[in-house]
Amino acid sequence: MHISLQGQVALVTGGSSGLGAASARALADAGAAVVINYHSQAEPAQALAAEIIAAGGDAIAVDADISKEDEVERLFAQTLGRFGQLDILLANSGLQKDAAITEMTLDDWNRVIGVNLTGQFLCARSALRQFIAQGMRPELSRALGKIIHMSSVHQTIPWAGHANYAASKGGVDLLMRTIAQEVGELKIRVNSIAPGAIRTAINEDETEGDAERRLLELIPYGRVGVAEDVANAVVWLASDLADYVHGATLVIDGGMSLYPEFRGNG
Ligand code: BGC
Repeated sequence: MHISLQGQVALVTGGSSGLGAASARALADAGAAVVINYHSQAEPAQALAAEIIAAGGDAIAVDADISKEDEVERLFAQTLGRFGQLDILLANSGLQKDAAITEMTLDDWNRVIGVNLTGQFLCARSALRQFIAQGMRPELSRALGKIIHMSSVHQTIPWAGHANYAASKGGVDLLMRTIAQEVGELKIRVNSIAPGAIRTAINEDETEGDAERRLLELIPYGRVGVAEDVANAVVWLASDLADYVHGATLVIDGGMSLYPEFRGNG
């Protein structure tokens, strides 16, 4: 089955690496023009935009700290200035600042909540306003617009040593479901993806050598994921093939959330 997002514009936050970069590439492969948002990594974001253009697509890279309201507004203004419309938001930016709860600083708490949760709120709010302003274009999609929140299995699995991160993802779950309940009647589709262990820079210490062997005990399907496992789902969720999927979380984790410790009868 061929999925076409031809004529649509997608904004991917945190698009310079990991799940964001793979998803930006996949959305472009499906025909969407892509805005690759980055914060610190200008060079890989611009290289990815150049790669997409060289392959016959269209893309720009835009710097913005999505935890800041004025920067999000500028990001959307630049998106609309260049492409004149927005059809798909992948609210993907996320980071970890891990520490035992007794050692966790308020700065590290605030930074993780700021990017992972407040950033998703700010970007979703701007996207919703734009979808409503531009109106329905049935030649492009059955939905007025599509938002995909990047969550984590840790929206449900508690994670010792990562209280800020787990709290942010638990927040993303109810943020997504509440927005979905609120805007469904406008035909705006809102969903989340909850990845498990996917090999990216965020978890490189956990996915190599002995750590990888321990990690694999938590993954019934027996492999660590790759970014394309998530990117393929992003393209499907953004497309009309998923037109009746709304307020859902698609867990992509090789079974990590199936309580694998119970495989030996508990
Ligand atoms: C985290 C990764 C971790 C995975 C499974 C993700 O949300 O960002 O570091 O490997 O969850 O625990």
